[in-house]
Amino acid sequence: MNALSAKRAKAGTAKPEALATGTREALLAAARAAMERAYAPYSDFRVGAALLTPDGDIVAGCNVENSSFPAGGCAERGALFAAVAAGRRRFTHLIIVTEAEDPTPPCGMCRQALVEFAPTLEVTSVTVGGAEARWSLAELLPSPFTPRSLHHR
Ligand code: THU
Repeated sequence: MNALSAKRAKAGTAKPEALATGTREALLAAARAAMERAYAPYSDFRVGAALLTPDGDIVAGCNVENSSFPAGGCAERGALFAAVAAGRRRFTHLIIVTEAEDPTPPCGMCRQALVEFAPTLEVTSVTVGGAEARWSLAELLPSPFTPRSLHHR
């Protein structure tokens, strides 16, 4: 990371590094495989998500629904919780895969969960049909509540 990237990262306005093709393919494959394992009989909306660590490790998750609807959870938080449980706390990229017509961003609760660990995260959402959208998490969640916010009292 050069000086400008470091400054942008600190400000939360980072232009994230582009993913190397092989890394992107691996992240996409992990998210896609996780989507195939989604348990979404109620919404029929399967989601796969894969997080990339700075070391190049990949941790994936899928949405897991429940007959008691609020007990279900999103793919992005599934990936995040699995990663933290595996000792990973820093992430550079997230790829989401769905079967929707248009790429979908992470829901608000997932944005909040992610910003705790990865304020400079780059989010890519793809559909199985090949459509793609990209955002920075800072763009998706401006003025976030962060661990520092707790000290403002
Ligand atoms: N879902 C996700 O997995 N991620 C999101 O960011 C949005 C929604 C899941 C939750 C539920 O199982 C289904 O998609 C429909 O909302």
